Amino acid sequence: MALASINPTTTEAWTQLQEHFKSIEHKHLRTLFAENSNRAKDFTINWEDFYVDFSKHRIDETTKKLLLKLAKEVKLEEAITKKFDGEIINETEGRAVLHTALRAKRDQTVLIDGVDVIPEIYEVKSKIKSFADAVINGEFKGHTNKSFTDIVNIGIGGSDLGPAMVVESLSYYKNHLKTHFVNNVDGDHFQEVIKRLDPETTLFVIVSKTFTTQETLSNANSIREWFLETAPKEAVSKHFVAVSTNIKNVKAFGIDEANIFPMWDWVGGRFSLWSAVGLSIALSVGYHNFEKLLEGANKMDLHFKNTSFDKNIPVMAALITVWYNNFFNVETEAVIPYTQYLNQFATYLQQGIMESNGKGVARNGEKVNYQTGTIVWGEPGSNSQHAFFQLIHQGTKLIPADFIGFATSLHGNKDHQDKLMSNFFAQTEALMNGKTQEEVEQELRLKGATSLEINKLALFKVFEGNRPTTTYFIEKLTPESLGKLIAMYEHKIFVQGIVWNIFSYDQFGVELGKELANKILSEFDNLEPSAHDASTSALVKHYKSYY
Ligand code: F6P
Repeated sequence: MALASINPTTTEAWTQLQEHFKSIEHKHLRTLFAENSNRAKDFTINWEDFYVDFSKHRIDETTKKLLLKLAKEVKLEEAITKKFDGEIINETEGRAVLHTALRAKRDQTVLIDGVDVIPEIYEVKSKIKSFADAVINGEFKGHTNKSFTDIVNIGIGGSDLGPAMVVESLSYYKNHLKTHFVNNVDGDHFQEVIKRLDPETTLFVIVSKTFTTQETLSNANSIREWFLETAPKEAVSKHFVAVSTNIKNVKAFGIDEANIFPMWDWVGGRFSLWSAVGLSIALSVGYHNFEKLLEGANKMDLHFKNTSFDKNIPVMAALITVWYNNFFNVETEAVIPYTQYLNQFATYLQQGIMESNGKGVARNGEKVNYQTGTIVWGEPGSNSQHAFFQLIHQGTKLIPADFIGFATSLHGNKDHQDKLMSNFFAQTEALMNGKTQEEVEQELRLKGATSLEINKLALFKVFEGNRPTTTYFIEKLTPESLGKLIAMYEHKIFVQGIVWNIFSYDQFGVELGKELANKILSEFDNLEPSAHDASTSALVKHYKSYY
């Protein structure tokens, strides 16, 4: 077994954490700050352009010590070495997990079955570069000899979310090409995208690791049909390229071998934006920026690999999540970026986090007897302040939140930036400190409220506070800092999976729905659908009544 199987609840640290929890459970963050005047400094990690403040968490030095002990007891250090060494840590699929190799330096060696994969990775990178350069500068043209103006990425899940999020996040760095994403099998979706496109100047990038995914193939086939309404068959090879491990199926689709960008089974879909899956990123922001994104991720990889756990950003972030998930019984965590550019960041993380750690069987094949993967959600601030923040501030649920902010705005509007950042700082302060009943009453009194009015209103205006947050405060949103941030979450996911003793790199949980959808699809033309439960049968029958 590549990874040890250790039930975290059987460790000494776990029992000690349970005991320690009793002393922290009702302690207010205000008290924790009062007890340690160095708290802000003690719980902040400064690394490169990242200032990561963990001090607004319901932890103290003992919590930290015990969480680090837990990491040791579940053999995190060994697991990290095994991961980077290319051992088969995705045991249920018999694969290594080496998205980190995609951003490794040229002089590094990464062996899979005794073969160094770095030369192959750099060969594909150079292919991405030449192709992206040729499309951007107009050398690679469509079948009527016109340069491309639009790129359409056709993919879903990991073959869509990563590229789509990065392209939007880096829109400031974008070139003249307009990038679109077709993902949903909903036919109205692709129609809405293509209605704005000129087939003569559009390049389609079909991204599918397996090249068997229903959504992607349906969209690719329908879009090819639409394209062929105005173009000869031979034109397909000039307008469609593909990223896949399934070369046979891609060729059968009509794509030129020269226009197939390979990927590897040791790169999971949700961690694949660093491979040729990121072709639409390279096309949108230029290869040099794609390279910077990879460089940033590589820096985070080295930080993760080489830094002691108490100063290790992904390790600390992951252990704190475990603390809330397994001791406070918290179920969800929010991610709130204070930049509109990261609008799709939480959606992207949902696949990374929930497809990886939404598992209920331990590495020894037994059902887990503790909580695993958290639910992640979020929207950019300040918008979200006017949407769901009420519940985070005064609701009955404890929701730890990641606040991500950038010191410098890209267009340099200081007035807006000051307002944005004041909100960024104010929210974590408010969530932590809250407002006591005395403070509320005093405030009302000063506003001239009567005792009757104060008695009636005060409790509704109280903020308990003690709501934990991490602040990721980064100098500027650049391809490099974004690469670091994404890689940080990737490693955080890995650490959580190690502690929870699950396999983070398979995704069998998405299969059952796919199987049943195929079965139901095949039944639409039958007179009598095969047996389902009464509810599903009635729904299928009701649908069929429309056609
Ligand atoms: O539905 C799950 C999934 O397998 C994801 O893990 C993956 O990212 C997505 O589907 C797309 O798969 P493919 O790249 O093979 O089309």
